[in-house]
Formats: sequence, C-alpha cells, structure tokens
Amino acid sequence: MEIKNICCIGAGYVGGPTMAVIAQKCPDIKVTVVDINEKRIAAWNDDNVNNIPIYEPGLAQIVSEARGRNLFFSTDVDAAIDKAEMIFISVNTPTKTYGIGKGMAADLKWIELCARQIASVAKNDKIIIEKSTLPVRTAAALKDILYNTGNGVKYQILSNPEFLAEGTAVKDLLNPDRVLVGGDIDTEEGRQAVKALCDVYRRWVPDNHILTTNVWSSELSKLTANAFLAQRVSSINAMSQLCEKTGADVNEVAKALGMDSRIGSKFLKSSVGFGGSCFQKDILNLVYIAKSFGLNEVADYWEQVIIMNDHQKRRFADNIIKTLFNTVSGKKIAVLGWAFKKDTNDTRESAAIYVADHLLNEEAEVAVYDPKVEEAQIYSDLNYLGTRSKEANRKNSQVYSDPYEACKDAHAIAVLTEWEEFATYDWEKIYDNMLKPAFIFDGRDLLDIQKMMKIGFIIKSIGKPTELKVLADSTALAS
Ligand code: UDX
Ligand code: ADP
Repeated sequence: MEIKNICCIGAGYVGGPTMAVIAQKCPDIKVTVVDINEKRIAAWNDDNVNNIPIYEPGLAQIVSEARGRNLFFSTDVDAAIDKAEMIFISVNTPTKTYGIGKGMAADLKWIELCARQIASVAKNDKIIIEKSTLPVRTAAALKDILYNTGNGVKYQILSNPEFLAEGTAVKDLLNPDRVLVGGDIDTEEGRQAVKALCDVYRRWVPDNHILTTNVWSSELSKLTANAFLAQRVSSINAMSQLCEKTGADVNEVAKALGMDSRIGSKFLKSSVGFGGSCFQKDILNLVYIAKSFGLNEVADYWEQVIIMNDHQKRRFADNIIKTLFNTVSGKKIAVLGWAFKKDTNDTRESAAIYVADHLLNEEAEVAVYDPKVEEAQIYSDLNYLGTRSKEANRKNSQVYSDPYEACKDAHAIAVLTEWEEFATYDWEKIYDNMLKPAFIFDGRDLLDIQKMMKIGFIIKSIGKPTELKVLADSTALAS
C-alpha cells in the first residue's frame, strides 16, 4: 500500500513533534495534524513559528521547514480522516477521575470518540495507529467500534508506542533507540500494514532499530518501559533519604551503581520526584490491569513506585517547613521551576504543583518563576487540585516573569525543575535581597553547594548529608 496522506488526530506533545519529524523526513507524504482545540491549532499555524504551543528544543525549526509544504494543522478532522490512508491516534488518555477504575484506569473516552468519528467518515480502507499510550488490549476495543459502526471499510490496527521523552523529543524522534510496531502479523493484510508503517520510519531509522511484534506485546512494552524507568527513579529517590541520614552522597552512590554495565547510568538522578504525563498514568494502568486479573502482588509491587514518588514530593515540602523553624505561615517561598523537567513547557504531574500546594496549605506565600510555563497554566494546575478556592490560590501565590523579583524578600528558595539557567544566576545578588538566614532547597541537585554556602546560604540538596561543611578548597570534593 502506498502512503500519500497521513492524518494525526491530536496536536499535543506527542502528535505535534512526531508528525513534524515524519513530515520533514518524508516530503512526498502530506501530513495533516488535526485537533478539536481551535486555539491549539491556531497556535501551530501562528506566523511566528516561535509561538507554536509546545516548547521543545529544535521543534520550531522543523515546523518552519515543513509547515505549508507537506505539514498542515487543521480543525477539520473529518476531511483529514477521509483523505488519509494512515491515521495516527494521538489524543490524550488521562487517568479516569470518575466511576469504575477511578484514579487508576486510563480514560478511553477520547480514543473511543476518535474511533467512532473514523468509522462514520471513512469510505476506503485505513491503517489506524495507536500512538497514545493505551492499556493493553485497547486495539481490540478499537477494532470492535470500527467494525460494528462502519460501512464495510476494512481497518488494520497497529500499535506504535511513542518512546520520545519531552525536552528531547526532536532528538529522540530523529535517533530513536528503537521504533516498535505491533500488528496483526498472523495475516497477510496485517503484515502489509506493518510494512507500510515501517517503510515510513525506514526513511531515516536504521532497520535494526525497527522492531515488529504482535499488538499486545507492543502495547505492554510501552507500559513496561515506563514502569521500569519510573522504578529506577523511585529506587534512587528511596536511597536519597537514606543518604541524608547516613552521610552518604546519592550522586556518588548513583555513579558507583551506574558504572555496573548491568545497571547503567541513566535514570539514576535523584530528584524531588518524577512527573510528566506518562510515568504515573502508565504505572496506575499496569496496577489496574494486574488487579483486574487478580494479580494483587504484581499490582502492589508496581504501586510502590508511585507511593515512593508521592513520599519524595511530600518529604521535600515537609523538610522546608521543618527547616524554617516549623512554620512557613506568611513567609515568602520562591519556587524556581514549574515544568516537570527542563526544556519543556509541560507541567502535567509536575512535582512543583504538589510541593507548592503543600506549602500553600501551611499558609506560605508561594512565588513562582519558570522560564517557559505561562502564568495561566500555573494557576490552572493549582486550581485543578481543588485544595482551595481559585481566589485563595490567586491571593497566596504569585507568578513572576523575573527570577530575581521572585526571590526578593523570600525566606527560602525551592529549586524544582533543573532548568540550566538557574545555575547561571547572580546568586550573590539573590542572597543580598533575601531574608536571613537564607535557605535553598535544591530538589534537582543543580546548584553548586560549596559556592552557595560560601555566599552564605544554608542549602539542602536531595540525597546529600544534612550537615554540610564549607570546604576551604571546593575542588577537594572532586578528588
Ligand atoms: C517518559 C519516557 O522517558 C518516554 O520514553 C515515554 O515515551 C514518555 O514518558 P517523559 O515523561 O517525557 O518521558 O520524561 P522523562 O525524561 O522520562 O522524565 C520523567 C520524570 O522523571 C521527570 O519528572 C524527570 O525529572 C524525572 N527523572 C528522570 C528523575 O527524577 N531522575 C532521572 O534520572 C530521570
Ligand atoms: P499527549 O501528551 O498525549 O500528546 P496532549 O494532551 O498534549 O497529550 O494532546 C492530546 C490532544 O488531543 C489535545 O490537544 C486534544 O485537544 C486532542 N484531542 C482529544 N480528543 C480529540 C478528538 N476526538 N479529536 C481531535 N482531537 C482530540
């Protein structure tokens, strides 16, 4: 089957960057990204390519190269479905907030709506690709909807999970460790559909990085990959607390571990807790699937990764309160970083939201600065938790566009995202404008502890011994 038109439903963090790269690499294929969110599509079409709705290093450049040539953003979902031979479904699948499976199962409402829409519009055979992370066996549900509401059109359903990480999406898409394509490989039609998708990726991904499996293996591999990655972060975060008690340094422990080739060095960076749209959601999904098969030990095992992560966020906030003489009431606390990691404007499940919420409960005045997150998003994240009224969130938290203003007259600074610019600030100036003692709580181990202590700060960094000494020669640390 020759692919001339690709449609992607969902112009978010996954659909946007993925389609931009496909369009860049396949100039002969027309790629149309559609979304029901008019504002989002308008932003993707903004004349100034720097105003596209998603911040990812390198993305604006790729969009500017392909947009209008063979990359299009539109709200006309039906027209794009009709023309395409291949449809990627890249809509959001958040954790259910109601009914059966509340707080655990993925909400497939949007996926189902897409399937129904495809079924009502399609006039010729289509390849449907699950791009969003979905619970295992969603493909079967999709098939049911498509075949039972359709008009004799044939569908092949493939699973092609996205492994890109935000902040490095373009890099990950251009040089993926692997591309996974799951399909109905027992039938000729299934094999042809798998081949058609692999042929798209083959334009820039080496053959030995393209893996084909059956649909279920593909769906489960995605959940498992995220669960394993999150588990590593929770494991090192569990150790960070022990390090603080014993005088060990979590970075040294991580380095020693990571040099074991069986373990490897990635995803061993201790932090204030993992965030993002995938880790928590996918593990909850796994827990839910395990429970639904009666596999309670399997469910408990994975759930512990989430429990550890919640604990890490909570203890970070508690430590601020305890250190500030057991009260933060009326005290200005500057929060540097709101995104769930650097180089993205995505804030979903960001640790910063939970830390700030906890501090607000203790009546702190929270002053937020993030280089890429907009003010409205910060308030919307706080309001979404529903801990207090919108008015109370507005009153007790301030969003700043200047980090020095955010830190002025603060009792403490909490570094919650590892934005590199934070390390380059004039920390002497920040210190001079703060109340004393001036505290820093570094949730990302970003700042140079010795430098900060020499300036006069009292600094507490994740996984570092609680009693830190100023060394006469800070290079002594390196030896
Ligand atoms: C993740 C997976 O990495 C990606 O393959 C999948 O497609 C989607 O989910 P993402 O959520 O974008 O990607 O970011 P990731 O880099 O995995 O980080 C997730 C969270 O873990 C972030 O909050 C990050 O700060 C934290 N983290 C990561 C750590 O605290 N320590 C680490 O060593 C690594
Ligand atoms: P992800 O990180 O998975 O890409 P996002 O929330 O960033 O998640 O993007 C998902 C996008 O899918 C949103 O912009 C949303 O408006 C869009 N979407 C959800 N349901 C539909 C639908 N039925 N038709 C078109 N777009 C949809």
